[in-house]
Amino acid sequence: MKLGPVPWPPAPIKTERLVLRESEARDRAAVIELYASPEVGTYIGGSQPREQLEQAVPEIPGRRPGFFVVELDGTMIGMITLDRRDPDRLGRVLPEGGEAELGYLFLPESWGFGYAAEASAAALAWFAKTLPGEPVVLTTQTANEGSLRVAAKLGFTEVERFEQYGAEQWFGVWTSTTR
Ligand SMILES: CC(C)(COP(=O)(O)OP(=O)(O)OC[C@H]1O[C@@H](n2cnc3c(N)ncnc32)[C@H](O)[C@@H]1OP(=O)(O)O)[C@@H](O)C(=O)NCCC(=O)NCCS
Repeated sequence: MKLGPVPWPPAPIKTERLVLRESEARDRAAVIELYASPEVGTYIGGSQPREQLEQAVPEIPGRRPGFFVVELDGTMIGMITLDRRDPDRLGRVLPEGGEAELGYLFLPESWGFGYAAEASAAALAWFAKTLPGEPVVLTTQTANEGSLRVAAKLGFTEVERFEQYGAEQWFGVWTSTTR
């Protein structure tokens, strides 16, 4: 679900090494690459056939508030998403559900350099400024060690663990005021 009525897009957000910005048509190939990569898909339900993605991904992918393309030296290396969580899913920190949820997907060549943590921290800072005081949640398979490490580095704390999609899931929360 979309994040909701927030001012969008923000001016490109610069971190020490990266730029976060809204998506453009030139990002389509990298978005398809992310969804088609078996390595990227390991803990998120697998990859999708490239031909199917070529049909399904729009000319400008990810045009919604909270979808950030992450660039290194002018090239897309990954994406950060902040979307509203389906209230029917397991895990909840707000009584009515529909929490903002953080997601991060990076191309394998860029793993291990701290980019996911650096970009996510910038996206969370944007979120805290845009919707002050609102919590952000995150779900990841407990087997996804890299993702758990990123969550810990960002200051997410565990709410609960549960079984879903045939795997154990870690469900955590972050709020700007408790960092
Ligand atoms: C998870 C993911 C975003 C991490 O990206 P990244 O840029 O490598 O992450 P960072 O470098 O910021 O941080 C990774 C941390 O986890 C550690 N790490 C990375 N992969 C690891 C692994 N397989 N096992 C153990 N630790 C790992 C790194 O050493 C680093 O820790 P450190 O800062 O203490 O050295 C990336 O692997 C990815 O896109 N995976 C596929 C998509 C995915 O699973 N997304 C999460 C869905 S919930």
